[in-house]
Amino acid sequence: MNAPWLSGLRFTLLATSLTIPALASAQDLPDGAGKATVARLCGACHDVNRVRAGYTPEGWRTVMRMMMNAEIPVPPDQWDTVTGYLAKNFPERPRPPAKIIAGPVQAAIKLWPVPTPGSRPHDPLATRDGKIWWTGQLSNRLGWVDPKTGAMKEFTLKTPMTGPHGLVEDKDGNIWFTGNHIGIIGRLDPKTGAVTEYPTTSKDPHTLIFDKTGTLWFTAQNANTISRLDPKTGAIVVLAPPTPGSRPYGMAINSKNELFVVLFGTNKIARIDTATNAIKEYLLPNAASRPRRLAIAPDDTVWYADFSRGYLGRLNPVTGEVKEWLSPSGEKSAPYGIVWTKGALWYNESFAKPNTIVRFDPKSEAFQSWALPGSLGGDIVRNMDVAPDGNPVTANSLSNEVGLVEIK
Ligand code: HEC
Repeated sequence: MNAPWLSGLRFTLLATSLTIPALASAQDLPDGAGKATVARLCGACHDVNRVRAGYTPEGWRTVMRMMMNAEIPVPPDQWDTVTGYLAKNFPERPRPPAKIIAGPVQAAIKLWPVPTPGSRPHDPLATRDGKIWWTGQLSNRLGWVDPKTGAMKEFTLKTPMTGPHGLVEDKDGNIWFTGNHIGIIGRLDPKTGAVTEYPTTSKDPHTLIFDKTGTLWFTAQNANTISRLDPKTGAIVVLAPPTPGSRPYGMAINSKNELFVVLFGTNKIARIDTATNAIKEYLLPNAASRPRRLAIAPDDTVWYADFSRGYLGRLNPVTGEVKEWLSPSGEKSAPYGIVWTKGALWYNESFAKPNTIVRFDPKSEAFQSWALPGSLGGDIVRNMDVAPDGNPVTANSLSNEVGLVEIK
């Protein structure tokens, strides 16, 4: 259990959970067959309290399929016992029921199971050729589906346990991704499957984006850094946001080529001048805000999904003024991925059951929402992107799917 990629993981996993009562130690686990194995193994890479997140029996089966991919040394005859123990003692916690709001827009949601079980599809990417790509964080693969035909293809990465997380397309059609567990930026050539790795000093590269000049930017939560990589030379410049432990997370570029970064460890959003590397921080009014991702409207207003408080927020970067709206499924709905498309904000509520896709019309300030289909209700959308035709796409980590929202 001494793989280098594990060092940053402990923190990542803890911060991802909503408020969960802690076990003082593995000894506090309920008795039963499977307890000893859980106590021995499940705190090795992340806190054993992770089991408190709680899942349905089907959810636990897919979590254990992910852990199998992480090569945890559960003896072969113990997997069923351990899965049964977890499903019995750590059932799904109460979740807010999805609030579905009717409205003027017609949309249909399609989901495709990805080929490798337990992939944990983390981020989606809609490429210019109409495909939907995903990162298989625990399959160590990138893959694509052609939504027109259902055809799929997966690419195994070069280094085991790379932990691919975010992904973007360059102008030549190469797919760049963050190797969250091994601290690299990778570039995959989809024609050959060849991967080029760029080592970084950030232990957990997270989200990445190209700015308008072709510079690649990436965040790292635990490293508390925002970095720029020159794709021509591979040279990396590391910037440190002024707030300690600010956990740089989702990013977007505005029309003036300014980079906006949500700081998931604090109630702030950062703006980076991509020409000078100067960083300015905007304070969000509520100290409990923990924005995960953001989207920028054509008028350069900045919209964020406040994961911890269940709000959609709008920051005017010129005045610093903020306005917020409670998300339809309420304070515990955990808004997560967010995009701007077709004149509106589209985002998901990741703790509503089932997950929802929400549309917010900034002119009328009206919400409309849709439930995600399937037995796991599309759990858990962690990011969204927009296809060339304007339709939002999703990656669904627990249900092991990628999705498309067809706006009619
Ligand atoms: C070899 C390292 C390792 C061990 C050992 C391990 N895990 Fe994990 N676990 C991971 C990784 C990697 C992730 C996903 C990365 C992340 O969340 O950042 C994860 C995520 C999880 C999640 C969150 C899944 C989700 O997507 O909602 C749960 C729950 C979990 N592990 C339970 C367990 C249990 C139960 C055990 C023991 C049977 C265990 N883990 C042992 C590496 C490990």
